[in-house]
Amino acid sequence: MCGIVGYIGTKKAVPVLIKGLLSLEYRGYDSAGICVLNNDILNVVKSKGRVKNLESNPELPNLTGSIGIAHTRWATHGIPSNENSHPHLDNSKEFAVVHNGIIENYTELRKMLEKEGYTFISQTDTEVIPNLISYYYKTEKDILKAVSLAIKDLKGSYAIEVISPLLPDSIIVARKDSPLVIGVGKGENYVASDIPAVLNYTTKFYFLEDNEIAKIDKDKISFYNNSLQPIQKEIKDIEWDAASSEKGVFADYMLKEIFEQPQVVMETIGSRLKPNEKCYFEDIDIDLKDINKIFVVACGTAMHAGLATKYTFEHFCKIPVEVDMASEFRYRNPLIDEHTLCIFISQSGETADTIAALKLAKNAGSKTLAVVNVIGSSITRIADYTIYTHAGPEIAVASTKAYTCQVVLLNILAIYFAESLGYSSKELENFKTEILELPSKMKIILDDTKLIEDFAKEVYTQPDLYFIGRNTDYAVSMEGSLKLKEISYIHSEAYAAGELKHGPIALIEDGVTVIGVATNPNLVEKTMSNLEEVITRGANVMVITNQDIPNMKINCNIRIPKCSSMLSPVLSVIPLQLFAYYIAKDKNLDVDKPRNLAKSVTVE
Ligand code: F6R
Repeated sequence: MCGIVGYIGTKKAVPVLIKGLLSLEYRGYDSAGICVLNNDILNVVKSKGRVKNLESNPELPNLTGSIGIAHTRWATHGIPSNENSHPHLDNSKEFAVVHNGIIENYTELRKMLEKEGYTFISQTDTEVIPNLISYYYKTEKDILKAVSLAIKDLKGSYAIEVISPLLPDSIIVARKDSPLVIGVGKGENYVASDIPAVLNYTTKFYFLEDNEIAKIDKDKISFYNNSLQPIQKEIKDIEWDAASSEKGVFADYMLKEIFEQPQVVMETIGSRLKPNEKCYFEDIDIDLKDINKIFVVACGTAMHAGLATKYTFEHFCKIPVEVDMASEFRYRNPLIDEHTLCIFISQSGETADTIAALKLAKNAGSKTLAVVNVIGSSITRIADYTIYTHAGPEIAVASTKAYTCQVVLLNILAIYFAESLGYSSKELENFKTEILELPSKMKIILDDTKLIEDFAKEVYTQPDLYFIGRNTDYAVSMEGSLKLKEISYIHSEAYAAGELKHGPIALIEDGVTVIGVATNPNLVEKTMSNLEEVITRGANVMVITNQDIPNMKINCNIRIPKCSSMLSPVLSVIPLQLFAYYIAKDKNLDVDKPRNLAKSVTVE
């Protein structure tokens, strides 16, 4: 889960690489390093910690060339330290490599290379790669060949960039199961783990597939398969603009992304949904009459989006839906076949567990449909069908706008399925109108955040918090609890409100904070009486509701606009996102880069 970036052209490489690394820091920030090729010498500078430490490293101005590779690290093998930072060089200092991924057989390769006389200075899995390239170069005398032979020996995942004075006008890149994009400029080219890292310079991209290799010169890019046969690839124009990956007037990316939600939800709805017209998804031609079960599979927040929308599929399409974590699904022999539709949700499109689950579903003959934010990402290239959320680049590690876009898009997909199955009703038509009204209702919530900010100030020192709700309110409670844990480091749990009395209520005592979500008219009374039970035991309560609620001793009552309970997660999640955000700010924490986390979890 590291970030890599590369530049070849006529500009000085360092500023481009630093800018790219800063934007990739969400992928890891244990250490950072750069290697620039100048006058046939590979010059390396590394710093422990954040990219800003590298940026202020007094040795950095010595790197003056126009070809360079850089890396920001999320430590897996070896502690965060200078030795373990990338780029890594081979023993002869002729090959510099940055790597994102994990080499599973590195111990074996290291032993083999040690027998050949190679020595190692780091504890990383990566250091075997430059030495392996050097090993093959000795016999092949051709760098491209040496790289292709070296990667054939690697088990695991990798996106690598290689530079060498033996091939001074090129960067060689290769990938398997880790993301890598190539940005195309005029007389210059870029490489990065994701699009926003170089979006300031170009909107034209190539997406490297697994087991492909590219040789990138400043005015030419050549692609090869793993047998080094030349292949053709299609260039793609990306619509995201550079400003969408900048913080703008906001203090943090997370806050910016929370406030962007009305806009990106509107873009996600796009032209797919119009009142009194059937929903439309180009290219999805699944015979739904042949489907008897839907599995929704994802991780973390994306999985919560699945939990929040399962009710809509079941209600309108009358097909049973099971939601599972990709990390569980992939190892439990799920009962799936050609009559199962498996839906995979992912912001990044690169999550290792989700990719493995998707491959498993494909092998079992199921139909696979991906709901993804990042265009051209790995999941989109494996799934039978892909539909895109239009959340734009999500930079903050904690996911916010991707979630609301996923919930909206899945609801629209459910309508599309229902209509394709021949269902139509007044309720379905009203539901469409309600979806179209969501952006303006989201804006109403965002226009006044004071109550949430004040309540966060009241409770930010607490060690534990609880969230309760029923039905979609339970799904959103899980998401609220995850947001809080991630960025405020406060322990929290989400419970289905009806489960409280079966155990968790033993945890409630004087002063414990409980957040209740109650937006379902059929269940509001039940949730409120569960809240009454915790109030009786001394709990400090915040409620998020759009229903008439009984007069009770509630410490903070957040009113949100009315809407169908199947859509309420899109609205009720906003106060929960803000609550987590303000608490983290009150605790003086880095909300965009919480400890131990990385945005894109490309390792198992
Ligand atoms: C939480 C969060 C993670 C991701 C999860 C899946 O804020 O960001 O839980 O939702 O790692 O990531 P994607 O959606 O990229 O597959």
